[in-house]
Amino acid sequence: MPSVKKRVRSEPPSEVRNESPATREIRQLEPILKQVETLTTTPRDALIDLARLVKAVLMFDIPGDIVECGSYAGGAAFLMAHLLREAGVRDRKVWLFDSFEGLPPPQEIDGAAAREYAEHPDAPENYDNCRASFADVRRTAKKLGLAPYTVCVKGWFEKTLPAHREHIGPISILRVDGNWYASVRCCLDQLYDQVADGGFVICHTYYTYDGCAAAVHELLGQRRLPYRIESVVGVRPGAYAEDYQSALFCKGDSSWKWLRQVYLAIQDIASVIPPRQTVILVDQEELGIQLGDQRRVLPFLERNGEYNGSPDDDITAIRELNRMRRSGAGFLVFAWPAFWWLEHYAEFHGQLRRRFPCILENERVAVFDIRPSAERDRE
Ligand SMILES: C[S@@+](CC[C@H](N)C(=O)[O-])C[C@H]1O[C@@H](n2cnc3c(N)ncnc32)[C@H](O)[C@@H]1O
Repeated sequence: MPSVKKRVRSEPPSEVRNESPATREIRQLEPILKQVETLTTTPRDALIDLARLVKAVLMFDIPGDIVECGSYAGGAAFLMAHLLREAGVRDRKVWLFDSFEGLPPPQEIDGAAAREYAEHPDAPENYDNCRASFADVRRTAKKLGLAPYTVCVKGWFEKTLPAHREHIGPISILRVDGNWYASVRCCLDQLYDQVADGGFVICHTYYTYDGCAAAVHELLGQRRLPYRIESVVGVRPGAYAEDYQSALFCKGDSSWKWLRQVYLAIQDIASVIPPRQTVILVDQEELGIQLGDQRRVLPFLERNGEYNGSPDDDITAIRELNRMRRSGAGFLVFAWPAFWWLEHYAEFHGQLRRRFPCILENERVAVFDIRPSAERDRE
């Protein structure tokens, strides 16, 4: 007779229940990172940051497809395509453009590191001159179930980009990874205009090769674009631990530094506040808009749902908090731009600490559970 196993409700192990939002994010990325890591020259830290960028682009609704110029074996592109699939996004694609014959020779302008590379282009550390097979990349896309999310185009950028740019339409992320001046310049000339407002241009070898940096500077300089170049830290084998791997800029008045921080803060908050709760978000309207889908967000101070300025003193802050609790507010969140409150309204802050548990506190947010049950537990 087959044995009948008693069904027990499976609980996640305690280390999973207690993990920080950042650890959870990396744990969730782990399976896809394992699948793509051997198919890319991009180091893990840069892949994790790239994953955040894709998720942030979706979260903040920056329109357009994702384009990678210089995809090699497709690892980074497949990571991005996986994130589209995971988010249930069917109306965006990841484009992979590559010669699939490896890199052309560098020129004088590409500098000393490129000359060094050119002495042994086929060395293992140069990934056999970044030669990948078109057929293999398409096979991998199928194997990973990512064919519907990707378009692979074989050929030299100089030919393929003018031929395909119209089909691509708006671009949310343009990842330019062709190493040398001529290739990077061609990608920027052909595709920059299609990058959506608020979209991002990543120049992966900006810190490695002079020609890549020169091409980026030329684009920004010739068009008199004021965008700031931002650095993304990554650890290349053999480089200093805090070496910069990539540079990027945002087409618009935002920055990845800001958007990443907002994105991570939203992850933090969502990880401890259940949906359908009313959340008071101190002094920070930008974050509130983004949390609003699943949680009701009120500013502080508040009048008729609108922000009503910061309080004159501690007594006003305490009185307003009590009033909003009576109307059903269950959580109070300070995001980093409002951390000054904690010192400035010291008495208010002291009361919060005495009466309510602070359920998450890190460099981005402090979240207090101000529901009546939490206060009772504290007494
Ligand atoms: C450093 S690899 C790209 C690595 C890849 N982005 C990743 O994250 O693994 C550079 C790629 O750019 C491609 N490439 C460079 N210049 C090109 C050009 N003018 N046209 C087409 N492909 C080019 C090379 O074939 C090579 O695969």
